Amino acid sequence: MKVRLNRFLAECGIASRRKSEELIEQGRISVNGNVIIDLAFKVDTSVDEVAYDGEKIKTERKVYFLLNKPKGVITTTDDDKRRQTVVDLIKTNFKIFPVGRLDFNTTGVLLLTNDGELSNKLTHPKNKVPREYIATLDKPLKLEDQTQLGKNIILDKRKSHFIDIGLVKKTNLRVVRVVTEEGRNHFVKRMFNSVGYNVKQLHRSKYGNITVDGLAEGSYRKMSIEEIEKLI
Ligand code: URA
Repeated sequence: MKVRLNRFLAECGIASRRKSEELIEQGRISVNGNVIIDLAFKVDTSVDEVAYDGEKIKTERKVYFLLNKPKGVITTTDDDKRRQTVVDLIKTNFKIFPVGRLDFNTTGVLLLTNDGELSNKLTHPKNKVPREYIATLDKPLKLEDQTQLGKNIILDKRKSHFIDIGLVKKTNLRVVRVVTEEGRNHFVKRMFNSVGYNVKQLHRSKYGNITVDGLAEGSYRKMSIEEIEKLI
C-alpha cells in the first residue's frame, strides 16, 4: 500500500504529520538511500526502506482485515483448548488480533488488525460505532417486546436499549434486525433473554458502514486505511 511519506512517519510514531513534513523538508528522511524532500512523495510500505537521520525506521506496518466470521470459531488470538481461532483463518505474518469479539457461533463482520490504537478507538464506548445484527429467535417477537427492547430494558443494572429494532421481513416474526452501539459481552443475546427469547442464530451484518456483502462465510479481504478511517 502506498502512503504519503509524512503520514508514514506519523504512523510509525516519529512525529506528528506536520512535524514530519518539516523533517522531510530538512532533508532528514531518506527512502531506499535517497534523501526525499518532496512532500507529495509516497512510500510503498511493504517494500521501501525509510530512514531518519540515516537510521532505518523499524516498524511493523499496520494491516487491516475484514473477515466474514463463520460459526464454530473462537474470537481470540489463541485458545488453550486448541479450538480454531479467527486469527487462524487469516494468512499473514503480522501479529493481528480481533477488534472486539463475536461469540463462538455468531457469524459476520469482524475486523482484525495489528493496530492497537485503532482497535482501542473503535471499541471505546465514546466513539459509538453502530453495529447491526440479524437475530433469529426461538419464537415470534411480540410487538410489545419489540417496543420495550427499543426503549427500556434493565441489563447489568443499567438502562439499556437497541437504537433500532425491526423485522427483516414483515412475514417472519422470528428474524429481527437490531442496531446497537454497545460492545458489552453477549449484549444482543442477553437483551432478548431479558424479555424471554432465545437467540438461535446471530449474524453481524454491519460494523459502522462495513458489511461482508460479497464475502463468503470464512473468507476475508484486506482493508485500506481509508475504509478504516471512515469508521471513526
Ligand atoms: N451480542 C451477542 O450476544 N453475541 C455476539 O456475538 C455479539 C453481540
